[in-house]
Amino acid sequence: MPHFCTLIPGDGIGPEVAHAAVKAVNATGVDISWKLAELNETIILESGKTLPPHVLYSLNETRVGLKGPVTTPVAGGFQSVNVALRKALDLFANVRPVRTLPGIKTRFEDVRIDMVIFRENTEDLYSGLEHEVVQDVVTSLKVITRAASERIANYAFGYARKNHRKKVVAIHKANIMKLADGLFLRCCREVAERFKDIEYKELIVDNASMQLVMRPETFDILLLPNLYGDIVSDLAAGLVGGLGIVPGANMGATHAVFEAVHGSAPDIAGKGKANPTALMLSAVMMLTHLGEAAAASKLQNAVESVYAEGKNVTSDVGGSASTDEFTEAVVKAIKGQPS
Ligand code: NAI
Repeated sequence: MPHFCTLIPGDGIGPEVAHAAVKAVNATGVDISWKLAELNETIILESGKTLPPHVLYSLNETRVGLKGPVTTPVAGGFQSVNVALRKALDLFANVRPVRTLPGIKTRFEDVRIDMVIFRENTEDLYSGLEHEVVQDVVTSLKVITRAASERIANYAFGYARKNHRKKVVAIHKANIMKLADGLFLRCCREVAERFKDIEYKELIVDNASMQLVMRPETFDILLLPNLYGDIVSDLAAGLVGGLGIVPGANMGATHAVFEAVHGSAPDIAGKGKANPTALMLSAVMMLTHLGEAAAASKLQNAVESVYAEGKNVTSDVGGSASTDEFTEAVVKAIKGQPS
C-alpha cells in the first residue's frame, strides 16, 4: 500500500519548491501517492473561502500534507490560510528544527547550531479577534489557555525525552503580560516538574533574542507561545543561512502538515531562483512521521552532501545554481547512495 499524502503547492515560489521536493522524495524510492490540492490567492478569492472544501477534504482523507507557501494579503483581505488550516485541523504544535548545514557560510561558522523550536500554533494574538472600538482605536485580543499551553509544553518535553535532548527553555514576556504569559509559564513549569530528567529554564523574549544571536549554540529546545514563536523562528533561520533552508511541521493529534518556514517570496517567484531545501527537509520530517526512516535519511544525506560539495547551491546561500540544478544534484546524490 502506498502512503497517501496531500500535496498543496501553494503560490509564488510554492509550485517551484513543491515540484522539487516531490522529485527528491520520489527519487528515494518510497511509495507515495500524491493527492494534489491546489490552493492559492486566485482560488481563495474566487471561492470566497480561505479554506476551500477540496483542501480540507483531501487532508481529512490522507491525514498528511506537504505544503508550499500561500500568499496572505497584508493589512486587510482574507484571513491567513495557514492560521485557518492550523485551527481547522487542530495542528497545535509548530515544530522547526534549526541546524547548521555543512558548507553554508553564516556569521557563526565556528559554532554548531542544533535547536528545535516548539511554537504553540492555535491561539495567542493569532486568534484573529480584532475590534475597532471607535475610529482609530483598535483592540487585538491575546488568548492564552491552560489546555493549549499544557499541550504544547507536554509535546516539547515529550520530544526532548524521546530524542535525548537535554534542555528546554520557555520563552515569555510574563513580566509585562502577567496574566496571559504568566499562565503559559505556569503550565510550562508544571509540565517541567514531570520531566525531571530534562533541564528547564525560562527567558524573557527580548533577552532570548539577544542570547540567540550571541550564543546560539547554547540553545536546545525552545518552547514559545504563538507570536514569539513566529518571530523567533525567523531569527533562528537567519542564524543558519536563512529562510530557504529551514523546515517545519504542523502537528496535531490526528493530522500533520509539513511546510517550510518561508513565505511565497513574490520577489523571486517564477525566476528559477527559489531554494527548495526548506521544503525538502520538511519532506524529511514527513517521511520520518510516516515511518520511512531509510528514505528520510537518504534525502537528508543527499541534501547535506550537495551543500558540503558547494557547487550546486542557490543564490540565497551564496551559490549560483537554479532551483532545477540544485534539485538535479540532490536527486543524483540520492541515486548514488546504496539502496
Ligand atoms: P518570504 O519568506 O516570502 O520572503 C522573505 C525573503 O526571503 C524574500 O527576500 C525572499 O526572496 C526570501 N526567500 C524566502 N524563501 C526563499 C527560498 N525558498 N529561496 C530563496 N529565497 C527565499 O516572506 P514575505 O516576503 O514576508 O512574505 C511573502 C508572502 O508569503 C506574504 O503574503 C506572507 O503572508 C506569505 N507567507 C506565507 C507563509 C506560509 O504559507 N507558510 C509563511 C510566511 C509568509
